[in-house]
Amino acid sequence: MSRASVTVRVPAKVNLQLSVGARRPDGYHDLVTVFQAVELYDEVTARPSEGGVTVSVEGEGVPFVPLDETNLAVRAALALAAAAEIDPDVHLHLDKGIPVAGGMAGGSADAAAALVACDALWGLRTDRAVLAEIAAGLGADVPFGLLGGTAVGVGTGTQLTPALARGRFHWVFALADAGLPTPAVFAEFDRRFAHSIRPVPRVSDDLMAALRSGEATRLGRALSNDLQPAALGLRPSLQFTLDVGEEYGALGSVVCGSGPTCAFLARDDEHALDLAVALSAAGVCRGVRRADAPAHGARVVEPETGER
Ligand code: C5P
Repeated sequence: MSRASVTVRVPAKVNLQLSVGARRPDGYHDLVTVFQAVELYDEVTARPSEGGVTVSVEGEGVPFVPLDETNLAVRAALALAAAAEIDPDVHLHLDKGIPVAGGMAGGSADAAAALVACDALWGLRTDRAVLAEIAAGLGADVPFGLLGGTAVGVGTGTQLTPALARGRFHWVFALADAGLPTPAVFAEFDRRFAHSIRPVPRVSDDLMAALRSGEATRLGRALSNDLQPAALGLRPSLQFTLDVGEEYGALGSVVCGSGPTCAFLARDDEHALDLAVALSAAGVCRGVRRADAPAHGARVVEPETGER
């Protein structure tokens, strides 16, 4: 049965651990990361069209989202159509709730959602493992957009293993005025370590134990991000944002991925609200978002119920 349209909801991510190793000949870095999907969503709607792949955008950061083939969602639709050997005719509408260029994998999330949406629209029923392979070809964070939850990523971040994680965590995100391009942050990271050999990254035992315990206090203490000094070097004002979170009792704070969004772990809902108010009032960010975690990966929103 062909559908008039398919809408897929996809979460943002925060890296609970981001340990970066050596730069590889292809320019990417070997890394070990622990992703957690958070309940901050983009929605991607796929509709039949006859003019190749077109895209429109509403919501967060619209002026900064490209509408051509550099948009990762467009590339996702093209890649899926090529793999299925069909014409890539689809219109994608992106409704953005994830900060653009914020280090929360918004563009990658849209690509994951576009894969799931086009797969359903075109009635392909592509195996999830095949979708994950196509996703890995699009970008390092795209496979996690499909999977969601909490997961360890190795290689460039595309080889995923779900992590045993108990409980719910309450996050507050401080959005920055302007984005930080991921390649620029990795380049700054390389510059800082130009004369040293990077240790082979490994997953943090403390972090894994914290996740198994479900204790937010332990998780807060175990957060780490090797890209944080590089992001702070490029955007020193982020330190003020992190300081405010600490002053108001965040259990842990970390720059999201390559930044510039800062993430704060709260004790509970009430504490998350206090932190959000304090960050807004201090004038150290463009806006704040609260989101619980973990969230599920890219999923079709069923039209009858509006449920995921
Ligand atoms: O894969 P994606 O397009 O999201 O990566 C964006 C940029 O981040 C890459 O061009 C590269 O500069 C950097 N990167 C990296 N090593 C990784 C992941 C990303 O150097 N493992």
